Amino acid sequence: MARSALLNVMVNAATKAGRGLARDFGEVENLQVSVKGPADFVSAADHRADEVLIAELEKARPGYDFLTEETGSKAGTDKSHRWIIDPLDGTTNFLHGIPIFAISIGLEREGQIVAAVVFNPVANELFVAERGAGAFLNDRRLRVAKRNELADAVIATGIPNRGRSGHAEFNRELPHIMQRTAGIRRCGAASIDLAWVAAGRFDGYWERGLKPWDMAGGLLLVEEAGGIVSDINGGKDMLGHGSCVVGNNTIQRHLLAELAAARGA
Ligand code: IPD
Ligand code: CA
Ligand code: CA
Repeated sequence: MARSALLNVMVNAATKAGRGLARDFGEVENLQVSVKGPADFVSAADHRADEVLIAELEKARPGYDFLTEETGSKAGTDKSHRWIIDPLDGTTNFLHGIPIFAISIGLEREGQIVAAVVFNPVANELFVAERGAGAFLNDRRLRVAKRNELADAVIATGIPNRGRSGHAEFNRELPHIMQRTAGIRRCGAASIDLAWVAAGRFDGYWERGLKPWDMAGGLLLVEEAGGIVSDINGGKDMLGHGSCVVGNNTIQRHLLAELAAARGA
């Protein structure tokens, strides 16, 4: 697969930041035993990745705006482009030595995500997509899964933890969905949940309470792999509403309808 200049820029930045994260992840195990614990170390790793991504992307495309989890909004001179970045998605996994985490980069042009990279440096899985040009995992073209029955589907989700909102809704949705599907999975990294739907590993995924940087890259991967994406109300305001429901055409429609039924909507 011949990558565009734009994707090359994004992949180079993700690979460079990913090398640092992979190195730091190797250190986490040693720190688990220390009294202070690895939390400060992980937060420093997160910030380092953020800095590398901003520096690399700014060098290659000067003037673009940024929205990153660690830096927040950073205005550039080119108002038509914005990088939306999670330098470390799956922090809790990282902290616990679970090798499921990713760097997520989405490029927004005139309000629409047009390019995406989700990179898990320890699994060495690089997911990329450009609008209209397909989604790829390490150069292999991706298609969402073909299963059409919820009863056969493996569905991913995110479970709100202590201090997060959405517990009551989730407690209504989960029993309803688990009784109608082949299995539920919780990866702990929204960008990877989305990438794995694009790769056909999961048949669908829903979550609420997300931030734009959790989804900006992954949603385009799903769309470019032939999937359908919406917010939990069936609209298209995923980033604004902080929710998503994704899958192939049929699974997405069924999942959305069952989630609404679970809430009594
Ligand atoms: C989190 C992960 C997780 C999701 C949370 C996110 P973080 O991001 O994507 O899967 O359930 O809502 O906040 O904190 O690891 O970058
Ligand atoms: Ca995140
Ligand atoms: Ca993060």
